[in-house]
Parts: sequence; C-alpha cells; structure tokens
Amino acid sequence: MAKRHVGITDTTLRDSHQSLLATRMKIKDMLPIAEYIDSMGFHSVEVWGGATFDSCMRFLGEDPWERLRTLKKHFKNTKTQMLLRGQNVVGYKHYADDVLDEFIKYSVANGMDIFRIFDALNDVRNMERAMRVTKREGGHVQATVVYTISPVHDFDFYMKMAKELQEIEADSICLKDMAGILSPYKAYEIIKGWKERLDIPVQLHAHYTSGMAAMSYLKAIEAGVDVVDCAISTMALQTSQPAIETMVATLEDGPFTTGLDLTKLNRIADYFKEVRKNYADVDSSSSSVDTNVLLYQVPGGMISNFVNQLKEQNAIDKLPQVLAEVPRVREDFGFPPLVTPSSQIVGTQAAINIIVGQRYMVATDEVKNYMRGFYGRPPAPVNEEVRSKIIGDEKPITVRPGDLIEPELSTARELVSEYIQKPEDIITAALFPQVAPDFLKKKKEAAQ
Ligand code: CO
Repeated sequence: MAKRHVGITDTTLRDSHQSLLATRMKIKDMLPIAEYIDSMGFHSVEVWGGATFDSCMRFLGEDPWERLRTLKKHFKNTKTQMLLRGQNVVGYKHYADDVLDEFIKYSVANGMDIFRIFDALNDVRNMERAMRVTKREGGHVQATVVYTISPVHDFDFYMKMAKELQEIEADSICLKDMAGILSPYKAYEIIKGWKERLDIPVQLHAHYTSGMAAMSYLKAIEAGVDVVDCAISTMALQTSQPAIETMVATLEDGPFTTGLDLTKLNRIADYFKEVRKNYADVDSSSSSVDTNVLLYQVPGGMISNFVNQLKEQNAIDKLPQVLAEVPRVREDFGFPPLVTPSSQIVGTQAAINIIVGQRYMVATDEVKNYMRGFYGRPPAPVNEEVRSKIIGDEKPITVRPGDLIEPELSTARELVSEYIQKPEDIITAALFPQVAPDFLKKKKEAAQ
C-alpha cells in the first residue's frame, strides 16, 4: 500500500529559538547550515516573523529585512514561512492598514512564501485584510485558528471559524497551540472535523511544553493532517516544538512517509547542539515538562514573566495566587486565547490584581484599550461589571479596530527621514517607532 506523505515544517530558525533562546539566534549562526537544511526536503522552513523582527533590531543590531533577504538566498528549494499577527503585524498592537499592506508587500518582495496569519482573539475581522493583501501580493495564505480551552471554544467553534477562513482567501488552515495544551484526542477530533469539511490542506502547530505535542501530532496525522511543525532535536521539546527526528522515525514505521532522512538530519542536530552553547545566558530550557500549563493553561513564557515581575515587587510568594487569578481574569475578559499580545494583557492584570490586593482597582492602558474593544471582539462577552470598573461608562467600539486607525506611514517617514536607505526602513519605523530611529541612524552612519 502506498504510504501517505506527511509534510514537516522546520521551525528551528524561528519559533524554536524564540521559545528556547529568547529569540536571540543571530543570522551568523544560521547561515553555515542553511543550505544544508534547504536540501532536506522540508515542506517549509519557518524563519521569520513573530518576535524575530523586533528582536533583530532591539537586541541583535540586525536589520530584519536583510535577514529575510539573506536567508532567501540560502533557501532556494524550500518555501520560507513566517508568523504574522494579523493587524498586529509583528508587533504588539494594532497598526493602520497602510503599514500592514506595505509590510506584506515588501515581505513577499524580499522572499517570503507562506504567511501564517492569526489573531490573538480569533477575531476574523482582524485577519481578513492581511489575508487578502497576502493573496494579492502572491503569498500563500495560511489562515490560523488559535487553540484554547474555554466554554465557548467547543468543536463547533473550531469548525465554524475554519470554514469562514476557507471562504475568505485561505490557501491552507493551521491549528495553533502556542501553550501546548492541545491533547491528542482533541487534536484528532478537530483535525478530523476539518478534513471532512474543508478542501484545503491543514497544518498543526504545537508546543511541547506539557509533553503532549508529539502524541497530538500522531493523532492529528491519523486524522489526516497534512503538515506538522517540528524543530531539530537539539532545539526541540520543552517550550519548543516536538523533534523532527522523533516524528520521522515514528511515521516511517507506519503507513506514512515524510521524505526526510534520519542520517542526514543528524548533522543539523549536531550543528545546533554546538550553536546553542553560544546562547547559554538566555537558554530557558529545563529538564522536565511543565505540567503547570495543564492546570492553568498558562503558556511557559508567561510563568517566567510572572516570576520576574513578582521578584521585582518582592512578592514571589504570591505566584500561586497569581496563577489562580489568570483563569478568573480570562473569564472576565471573555475567554481570550493566551497568545501575544492577549497573554501579556491578561497576565499583567492578573498580577496587578493580586499585588494591589483589590481586583481591577488599577488597570494598564492595554487593559483599558482591550475593554474599549481596541483589540477586537473577545470570543465571549466580557464581564460588564468589570468593564465599567475599568473604563466607566465609556462605550466600547464595535467595528474592526483597524478601521479607526489613521494611516501611519507618513508620520513614520518623517520620524526617520534622515536615515532612510530603503523603502522598508519606513515600515520598520512605523512598527517600532521607539527603537527604529536609533537603529536606522547607526546603520546609516556605519554605511558612510
Ligand atoms: Co509557536
């Protein structure tokens, strides 16, 4: 019997080091192995987007656009892939449509093939423009449903949202489990439902955090999933993805094939084993799985943020209370999935509630804007009592937040006018106006 092909996306150069090494991997550590990775036969390589754009500029002194262009030269055979936060682009807030449009246009022009597009609230209105522009520019639209657990995120929710995305412009659909809370049986149920109802390929993205992801992949593959996201073994597991080699060995022994060669993959594993040592100071790896995520559904990164935040306040003993407060805040907020930026919004408020000792007496600007509807429509209605505590009798907006944002590119152009060397610099300035001017100034000076 012919074996069914299952594609593997290699996340080592994006999500894996974002999850394990605080997004700090430099391009000089990627290039020596890039062409070899390109020759493996991966479905795609995720190499850009998410937090890498910000991190390149803020911490590494690298131009994110140049990184993309350089990587593209090395990935001649494999499709490149990026994570795009819908209207949040690669930032933490909503941007104007002109910024989004130009970002996508130049991403395609610089070599990006597959755009994985999601919205933190699963509000399709916040994804639609990104999807249409990606399509228009010739990119592959991978529309994404963020997985979370709540009374409103039932089987029907996942079916309905995926169907809606297919009807817009999606070339493929991704189920994104950023917290590592998707159990194997839930994965089977959702993927099976999608394969029965959708006519486009389906991909699964999960984090290993709780230890379930490899099992979830196997069940999803049995349910018909087309592609799964993995990282090379020495950059896998913990808060990263399941290991490529584990999946290859598992699948080849059954009625599946990945087209990948274990012996060849080994060289990549050896390479990153060494590279990882360069990042020991930011390496967040721990030796065990994190079962807290199963109890609180709080992604790994959030717990380490709490620890830092509480230590600063000299209140580390309050960690259990903060963790218990997260689900309550999440319920008050209409059950948002906990992913950038909603995880920060909910997490910070939970910590404030406990530290202040009175719920919602103090709220961050982000929380106020969330309650005003500036992040979009939460999956379920928010607690109105909490809303009025936070924004009084202000009326929340009901339109797509992006509709209310004036074009931002011309201000950005002015902000960095003396340092512009290429059109992309204006987009960079629009996305990160606090960081970009200094970065672009230094760049221009270095070029002179
Ligand atoms: Co991820």
